[in-house]
Amino acid sequence: MYTHEELKKFVDNCSRCPLSHTRGKAVMGKGNLKSPIMFVAEAPGSSEDRDGIPFTGPSGGVFDQLLEGIGMNRQDIYLTNIVKCHPPRNRDPLPEEKEACIVYLKHETLLIRPRIIVCLGRTAAQRIIRDDYRITREHGMFLYRKNTWLTAVYHPSAILRDPAKMDEAKADFAGILEKYREVAQEMGQSFPIDSFS
Ligand code: URA
Ligand code: SF4
Repeated sequence: MYTHEELKKFVDNCSRCPLSHTRGKAVMGKGNLKSPIMFVAEAPGSSEDRDGIPFTGPSGGVFDQLLEGIGMNRQDIYLTNIVKCHPPRNRDPLPEEKEACIVYLKHETLLIRPRIIVCLGRTAAQRIIRDDYRITREHGMFLYRKNTWLTAVYHPSAILRDPAKMDEAKADFAGILEKYREVAQEMGQSFPIDSFS
């Protein structure tokens, strides 16, 4: 198993796909390596490409608001993307880019061993849950696979484009908190879990 530091170094120097030619900074996942919950989004935007950190731009603000709504912050969770480099003009990552990059997410998952994985948006949900996953129809629902709870919620940038989605997203986050409490109880801990820092 690789350490987070080693994985970050691989990602920073990676040239497994053509996004390496156009990126500014590669964006390795970040957060609490001992957290039972991992959020997976799509790909870095232009702020993240500049900062090298996930969700530092406007959609990061929406994400933080949703996290704060359930009493959590970035130190309580691990946050990463399917693809670690910014696709030019924010286009969707290509299938070959996702395939080239998924190895890093696999290593992150081995390292974090999350009990709950939350996909942020359709791209992550279709890569992680099911390739025909329908986010509008299925968001907020949980399924259990290989010792892990999986769910998906609207991507924060979808909420920015359509603020009417915020209420549904808040309801989905309430469900995430409920699942988190369940998992914490199984682990013999009560919420907030403060012993994994
Ligand atoms: N959008 C994403 O999907 N990921 C980020 O890190 C930032 C914006
Ligand atoms: Fe490597 Fe992933 Fe960046 Fe492509 S997107 S260059 S596979 S880190």
